[in-house]
Amino acid sequence: MSLKACLKALAMAAALALPLNAVAAPAPIVIKFSHVVAQNTPKGQAADYFKKIAEERTKGRVKVEVYPNSQLYKDKEEMEALQLGAVQMLAPSLAKFAPLGVREFEVFDLPFIFDNYQELHKVTQGPVGAKLLKKLEPKGIIGLAYWDNGFKVMSANKPLRSVADFKGQKMRIQSSKVLDSQMRAMGAIPQVMAFSEVYQALQTGVVNGTENPPSNLYTQKMHEVQKYVTLSDHGYLGYAVIVNKKFWEGLPADIRTTLTACMKDATKFANDVAKKDNDEALAGVKKSGRSQLIALTPQERAAWKKAMDKAHKENTSRIGADIVKEVYAATGYTAN
Ligand code: LMR
Repeated sequence: MSLKACLKALAMAAALALPLNAVAAPAPIVIKFSHVVAQNTPKGQAADYFKKIAEERTKGRVKVEVYPNSQLYKDKEEMEALQLGAVQMLAPSLAKFAPLGVREFEVFDLPFIFDNYQELHKVTQGPVGAKLLKKLEPKGIIGLAYWDNGFKVMSANKPLRSVADFKGQKMRIQSSKVLDSQMRAMGAIPQVMAFSEVYQALQTGVVNGTENPPSNLYTQKMHEVQKYVTLSDHGYLGYAVIVNKKFWEGLPADIRTTLTACMKDATKFANDVAKKDNDEALAGVKKSGRSQLIALTPQERAAWKKAMDKAHKENTSRIGADIVKEVYAATGYTAN
């Protein structure tokens, strides 16, 4: 047979085989998982790990497409996309749920409410955490898990040590009324902005500073456009992994069971890497020599806490006094 005839025969065979293949392997269930941070962050790595184990354990019946770095949607848009079913899974930070009408999540933004991950886990892995996730269901959303990130640093182009240092500083915040109160309590001017816009806003001086765990600061290169980073650990930033309810409930039961187990393992993965990633990011910032790290004295930190307590007072009724009380009981928060 000539080469030409051979190629023609192969092409015909391929064309004939195609419909047979299509019948033999039904199209996989696609989960679009959108997020706003870099791949080498705790959330980015956990999303990739979830993809890996979900595809392996469902033997390809599920395909998870992870879209990092606001590639697909920015903060506010991704919530809308999830509700509309344009994406199936997200892990927004807990500060971003109030625009959905679920203000209770802002309890996590209260400054100094968690001293460490152990205190945080009493809430995220306890009854209060489960109760909060349930509140998403009337919004067409199911909360599957909490993923840790870490404790926030405060950055600016001037050293932020005393409360007075914040006066008049324009500080980028996430869309949370608690964070708005927190910055105002320090004398700063808060500005809500999507995460994807922060680097440029810092670079061009649209805002003077911001707050984030070191992993976000470092992977977005914010330290390259901020002269000072104060190691304040004044608040926590973490995530709720959420899915579109209709999509989740419409999955074959065996797939849902497998994915639930994968989420459990991905959560353990996320929480295991979070602290290490943040420690490494801080070391990276230090090594870069681009920003100077500032350690607060216990007295300076106590002054921040005292000033920021106003954010608790101003937001307790908005968040829900019962929820705030329950979290205080779990973590032992007191104003001073
Ligand atoms: C932010 O907007 O600062 C964070 O929520 C980004 C993230 O998802 O960690």
